[in-house]
Amino acid sequence: MKTLRTQVLIVGAGPAGLLLGQLLHRAGLDTVIVERQSDEHVLSRIRAGVLEQGTADLMDEAGVGQRMRAEGLVHDGFELAVGGVRHRIDLRALAGGRTVLVYGQTEVTRDLMSARSAAGLITLYEAADVRIDGFDTSTPRAHCIVRGEPMEITADFIAGCDGFHGVCRASVPAGAIQLYEKVYPFGWLGLLSDTPPVSEELIYSRHARGFSLCSMRSATRSRYYLQVPSTERVEDWSDDRFWDELRARLDPEAAGSLVTGPSLEKSVAPLRSFVAEPMRFGRLFLAGDAAHIVPPTGAKGLNLAASDVRYLSQALIEHYLEGSDAGLDHYSARCLARVWKAERFSWWLTSLMHNFDQEPAFQAKLQAAELDYVLASDAAQRALAENYVGLPL
Ligand code: APR
Ligand code: PHB
Repeated sequence: MKTLRTQVLIVGAGPAGLLLGQLLHRAGLDTVIVERQSDEHVLSRIRAGVLEQGTADLMDEAGVGQRMRAEGLVHDGFELAVGGVRHRIDLRALAGGRTVLVYGQTEVTRDLMSARSAAGLITLYEAADVRIDGFDTSTPRAHCIVRGEPMEITADFIAGCDGFHGVCRASVPAGAIQLYEKVYPFGWLGLLSDTPPVSEELIYSRHARGFSLCSMRSATRSRYYLQVPSTERVEDWSDDRFWDELRARLDPEAAGSLVTGPSLEKSVAPLRSFVAEPMRFGRLFLAGDAAHIVPPTGAKGLNLAASDVRYLSQALIEHYLEGSDAGLDHYSARCLARVWKAERFSWWLTSLMHNFDQEPAFQAKLQAAELDYVLASDAAQRALAENYVGLPL
């Protein structure tokens, strides 16, 4: 059996694991990442693409912000379309000058991967049967199989950055963890295409046929979503069917100017709200999707992963460089305070913008009243904008 020793073993090479590895490396700490998939597979996943300023700043701090600053699109606002009429939410004006940066999560991941390989740091891709144990002792360990060879990695700490279906949260005894979950009766069907975006800003549309979102990756690449029943199969959606349905849900101007083309990717994602508490178990720390999931409305998933990683990297650096465990001790509570506020916002925006046909009529009336209120109230729009650009760290 091959053995390795490191200070911080990171499970998962998604944005959370890679960003943590990069921030720790910059502080002179040693990490090893184990990842179940290949690097190509990790880069083939299409996820959201709206970065809060705090997330973009953290990419700069990690020394990987160059391409993001050059290619990312600063968005000062977005639109809510209701009943075929668009209303602009002016983020810059409503949120004290703050804006968001449109830059795909896939590109964030690519930049972090390039930096990690340029620095010659160890990432074990295609690691099979990853298991962790001993995190309740001073010598946590992982075992896995890499290219047929069994490996043991010992560390001071394990960072569980292995997403919702990962092994780390699942390794915690059931009695030590509390789970909170809400599953929505619909999903998002997403389509990526090399076509110019239908509008300069994102459009979140409420429509009797269901919610839709017009987003983008660049001036020449668009990302669109449709609310669909969670039982829907992507094979049943030809590109033409997708474009027709999107057009039917857009306001007349957007429908008229929509440029369509062949899909580069199409997939259905379920909508879920989920939180695991606490986020620390001895020497195991969960971060990102391993600890919490938000529905994609509002694009908080990656931004929450980034704020966890900020807290965790600071805490680990304090431990090694200043001999203080205060940050590690407060990690879970600090993260969860921010996590629950983003859970609330993502649930609220999801509830506001989607069709809930199976809910009582009373619910639909409340939703209509809430939409009316948001579109007419400066105070409500400020609250929306404040959350959308990201609550303070
Ligand atoms: N062993 C090793 N790696 C694993 C295991 C395992 N048992 N299980 C999962 N992984 C890997 C996955 O293959 C994936 O690459 O962990 C990584 C987790 O990455 P993400 O799912 O992208 O999660 P995270 O890094 O927390 O990023 C959060 O991603 O899902 C979106 O909406 C979410 O935008 C948010 C962001
Ligand atoms: C995306 O571009 O994929 C995206 C943007 C905003 C969201 C969700 C997804 O709220």
